[in-house]
Amino acid sequence: MTHKIAVLPGDGIGTEIVAEAVKVLNVLELPLEMETAPVGGAAYEVAGHPLPEATLKLAQASDAILFGAVGDWKYDTLERRLRPEQAILGLRKALGLFANFRPAICYEQLVGASSLKPELIAGLDILIIRELTGDIYFGQPRGRRVATDGHFPGAEEAFDTMRYSRPEIERIAHVAFQAARKRSKKVTSVDKANVLETFQFWKDVVTEVHKEYPDVALEHMYVDNAAMQLVKAPKKFDVLFTGNMFGDILSDEAAMLTGSIGMLPSASLNANGQGLYEPSHGSAPDIAGQGVANPLATILSAAMMLRFSLNQHEAADRIESAVRAVLAAGLRTPDIWSEGTTRVGTREMGDAVVAAITGK
Ligand code: NAI
Ligand code: MG
Repeated sequence: MTHKIAVLPGDGIGTEIVAEAVKVLNVLELPLEMETAPVGGAAYEVAGHPLPEATLKLAQASDAILFGAVGDWKYDTLERRLRPEQAILGLRKALGLFANFRPAICYEQLVGASSLKPELIAGLDILIIRELTGDIYFGQPRGRRVATDGHFPGAEEAFDTMRYSRPEIERIAHVAFQAARKRSKKVTSVDKANVLETFQFWKDVVTEVHKEYPDVALEHMYVDNAAMQLVKAPKKFDVLFTGNMFGDILSDEAAMLTGSIGMLPSASLNANGQGLYEPSHGSAPDIAGQGVANPLATILSAAMMLRFSLNQHEAADRIESAVRAVLAAGLRTPDIWSEGTTRVGTREMGDAVVAAITGK
């Protein structure tokens, strides 16, 4: 069976890093059919829209999407719907990508380069799962109005609505418990049940779903405590899952435990196992075109794609081992460079991963 992959490089360093990931995929000798399409600012330039119909159709017809990054300062003055970043929001919505996986792994070889205490981060391997389509980000009603009650009646005010439906919580809870089954069978559900009705409901529903997973340990934690524990004792977590807003904040916090944003892959999945795979970082316009961006987050995202959407676990293992091998050999792009290691560019890093896979 051939796997169809939509390759959407996007803007800035997106094109440079995706080229390296494609190079790595190509040497694995898998039945992959890759088709490239413009997205973000690059698509706006050629089609007048950040997510053109043809790009969306290609994404919908594919088993998986390999995405680079979108955005550039030069589009800041465009009206919101035409800005590059709308492409990623449009893809999440159109494909129903509700489960965002962000593994935060601290590679052994990078421990010394971090400003954090080695005993805190050495061996760190946690998985943050963030619900991506609900919560206060999308809840209606929202807007601005003149207050009729509260502390300042008659004053101008703004409001958003935090809401989650039972099926929305159930499906992300199933994803988290199933992910935990493949790891150390421990899940931390992060909420704010002591204050918010939405998250008391979240806790209740998660507890019910947990009955179907007696082999997995479940712990509930308030979000403020989770933020603290992530910097105090991050290795105590294994799978941490939460709603859209708490997940946004905690996943960035966790990212900082691992060294560089250039090392962090991500996956966003829908109910059919279709997924969008992208590095956690953006288009980095400050270093675009210089050939210095770290391609490893994108290469590791390609490995996640093989694992989650294409069921090619052995090929995913080969990529991940190759990444460990090039780090062990001392190769570093500038973002992860430290004294005594060898500074390389984007392309050399990609070439080294290819060489580690092929043994040539
Ligand atoms: P950014 O993640 O692009 O860059 C932040 C800092 O990290 C910069 O100093 C950059 O040089 C560095 N960096 C990022 N990726 C790197 C890599 N692979 N190797 C080495 N260094 C790397 O975030 P920023 O600057 O806030 O946003 C730039 C543009 O990217 C904006 O237009 C923003 O909207 C967009 N963006 C797009 C995302 C996406 O496509 N999913 C996600 C986040 C931001
Ligand atoms: Mg964020």
